[in-house]
Amino acid sequence: MKLSLMSIHCLFLALFMKLAVGYGSNVSYDSRSFIIDGQRKLLISAAVHYPRSVPAMWPGLVQLAKEGGANVIESYVFWNGHELSPDNYYFEGRYDLVKFVKIVQQAGMYMMLRIGPFVAAEWNFGGVPVWLHYVPGTVFRTDNEPWKYYMEKFTTYIVKLMKKEKLFASQGGPIIMAQIENEYGYYEQSYGDGGKRYAMWAAKMAVSQKIGVPWIMCQQWDAPDPVINTCNGFYCDDFTPISSNSPKIWTENWPGWFKTFGSMDPHRPVEDVAYAVTRFFENGGSVHNYYMYHGGTNFGRTAGGPFITTSYDYDAPIDEYGLPRFPKWGHLKELHGAFKLCENALLFGERTNLSLGPLQEASVYTESTGVCAAFLANMDNKTDTVVKFRNMTYHLPAWSVSILPDCKNVVYNTAKVGSQASVVDMVPEDLRPSVVSPKKDLKALQWEVFVEKPGIWEKPEFSKTGFVDHINTTKDTTDYLWVTTSLYVDGDEMFLKKGIPPILSVKSKGHALHVFVNQELQGSASGNGTIFPFASEIPISLKAGKNEIALLSMTVGLQTAGPQYEWIGAGLTSVEIKGLNNGNVNLSKFTWTYKIGLLGEHLNIYKGDGLKSKNWVLTTEPPKRKPLTWYKALVDPPSGNEPVGLDMIHMGKGLAWLNGEEIGRYWPRKSSKHDACVDHCDYRGKFSPNKCSTGCGEPTQRWYHVPRSWFKSSGNELVIFEETGGDPTQIRFSKRKTSGVCSLMSEDHPSISVESWTTATKDTNDKKATAQLRCPSNTRVSAIKFASFGNPMGACGSYSHGDCHDPESASVVEKMCLNRSECSIELSKENFNFGSCPGKIKRLAVEAVCS
Ligand code: GAL
Repeated sequence: MKLSLMSIHCLFLALFMKLAVGYGSNVSYDSRSFIIDGQRKLLISAAVHYPRSVPAMWPGLVQLAKEGGANVIESYVFWNGHELSPDNYYFEGRYDLVKFVKIVQQAGMYMMLRIGPFVAAEWNFGGVPVWLHYVPGTVFRTDNEPWKYYMEKFTTYIVKLMKKEKLFASQGGPIIMAQIENEYGYYEQSYGDGGKRYAMWAAKMAVSQKIGVPWIMCQQWDAPDPVINTCNGFYCDDFTPISSNSPKIWTENWPGWFKTFGSMDPHRPVEDVAYAVTRFFENGGSVHNYYMYHGGTNFGRTAGGPFITTSYDYDAPIDEYGLPRFPKWGHLKELHGAFKLCENALLFGERTNLSLGPLQEASVYTESTGVCAAFLANMDNKTDTVVKFRNMTYHLPAWSVSILPDCKNVVYNTAKVGSQASVVDMVPEDLRPSVVSPKKDLKALQWEVFVEKPGIWEKPEFSKTGFVDHINTTKDTTDYLWVTTSLYVDGDEMFLKKGIPPILSVKSKGHALHVFVNQELQGSASGNGTIFPFASEIPISLKAGKNEIALLSMTVGLQTAGPQYEWIGAGLTSVEIKGLNNGNVNLSKFTWTYKIGLLGEHLNIYKGDGLKSKNWVLTTEPPKRKPLTWYKALVDPPSGNEPVGLDMIHMGKGLAWLNGEEIGRYWPRKSSKHDACVDHCDYRGKFSPNKCSTGCGEPTQRWYHVPRSWFKSSGNELVIFEETGGDPTQIRFSKRKTSGVCSLMSEDHPSISVESWTTATKDTNDKKATAQLRCPSNTRVSAIKFASFGNPMGACGSYSHGDCHDPESASVVEKMCLNRSECSIELSKENFNFGSCPGKIKRLAVEAVCS
């Protein structure tokens, strides 16, 4: 190896810096990239939010991100999970930030710590503690003393904690950059002059923390030096940082999207994700973060809103349950491998741009040493094309980029997915009763039940004329607020004789409401993820004499972002009864009596000693379709070791716990049949969240993740609070199982894979595209469900033959794959009949059963 004088100099400098700062690393940057201990870096980062999974999952998630080709883990810091009340800090369990960062360190990865501490993130109240809204004089996120005081205090607390544990790279830890604030640039102007002052203050306050690594601000177009401004979006190839000395950083590339109860299920096709990432790197980017790489779960009441689902799966490369999502995870892993092959050229090479057509271009990176890497892009969102580059021709599918690590051979094309897909099922299993007493009937599940009375329990909070704001009243200590009154109905009301029910007409700022009259549920109403306020007309049954009206007002997660978002209220604004002799009665002028929360919540009936509360009554038959009912059962864990989801399809709406751990809100609310779902997603062209949705007319969320580590070997207390009525006997645990794997391989797929690149002769002529299948660990291919070489159609799980089909396909694939845990099938003349349907590009589709 020949070292130039320059590089020897650099080596000594790096060594000196290392010694000078103890065992820490020197993290700096220039316009090209981050430079760690003198080395330029391509940083591929994976967002994994620690409280959205459990500590038992962290090492596996981090490892899977590393295996997927990431070298950085990113997380926000969740202020409201840590500072429960002023100066009352919590860092245990899912909030053990230090443990999480150390796991990242042990995996040999870097960490991007986005402290915020305002974070948005579809997290309750954007991560800011609700109590801070009630500290007099506080206005969030602007030049305001109480806000700045508490924000600085928390930021300093986190920085000190990280420093104490030596977690900054400057101290030898993994944290190589930190973020202050979050996308403030969007809102700065809406805060007037104070907005700008606040942004500058935040940057200065951050820098003054002296963390020894760079600070970033995302979507902040006036971030002052040395704070680096970064880009968030579905695409960031056009982004340029303000300072010409800063590298081009993409802090949030959304490989999917979040869901709200009652909406469709969004998906972002991996071909488009890969296209966006590749365009970013070929256009000079060097730091890129998938937001999210593992979305996880909004346990308990951490989901923001209104209406964000408990699942935060995000269609991310690792699914909510911690399994790699194929083909997304696999296709991106290959992409990262392809970047690795181009790393030197990308980080040290000179870039030249060549036009290859009206919407086609090449980015070529060459080094003086002769190292060369090229990216051939087809930005046309409709038409495939053939381009000429350095006297060779290349086929480029529409909206795709080919990667040529030697400026000659294609190792990867963003639109040609070689990675396997998988068939993932939620396999139901009946709840298994726990053996607690040998005297009991062991076959039937023992249910204990506590039914709440609608309306005020124990002492009311207060009474007043008209309505109060829901959030200002509950301070978000619970979702629930009882709002009650009574109405006297004369015996001579016409509706009593005619049997026409009067109508209760309600208006609310949000989020949801159940109407009880004389202890009976009359109906429910709610807003949705797009429009939070709602108005509803609910027929009610009234009797002659005094009627008790009890309205259960609910929040479903607090606002997470937007200008002055903390002032957005919730709760009833008007109630009328229509259809009485005198027309409408305006109940808004009545005296209303309020009670915060439910009795069961007050008694902590779902955890600790509350589980033994005398309110629980043993029953042989738990009541069905009964509103306001708490259910408790002692269960064994589901068999096996697959991840577990609680199937709540037969329930209404409510909250669930296991062993006192908060599973979260459940609500199998359906999206509309008439929403815009797609059977097949066209990856071509710019993505937006509604482009490729599925699940119209289906519950947005049916299964609720219950981490395996929450189960004991027996005697697990499953507690459900059901608001409107459901059938608890139909509740199941479902196990998330990969039952099969698929491959759809085209003969024109790059024949050199990322893995074979270093050893490949790079003589493409004698290499053939190869399909690869791998069953999950401890399983083997037990059957070939489908195999067709020709022009098969459809997707994994629903392939069908086209008009061109080699009848021997199945036997060829069986010979190579049956009883194996993995297999490769070359698309060669030896294996398949290339003679039929000449002139067509042929494909091999395989679906294998793994067991
Ligand atoms: C961004 C925000 C993130 C997250 C994301 C959508 O605007 O910075 O925190 O909310 O949108 O998932």
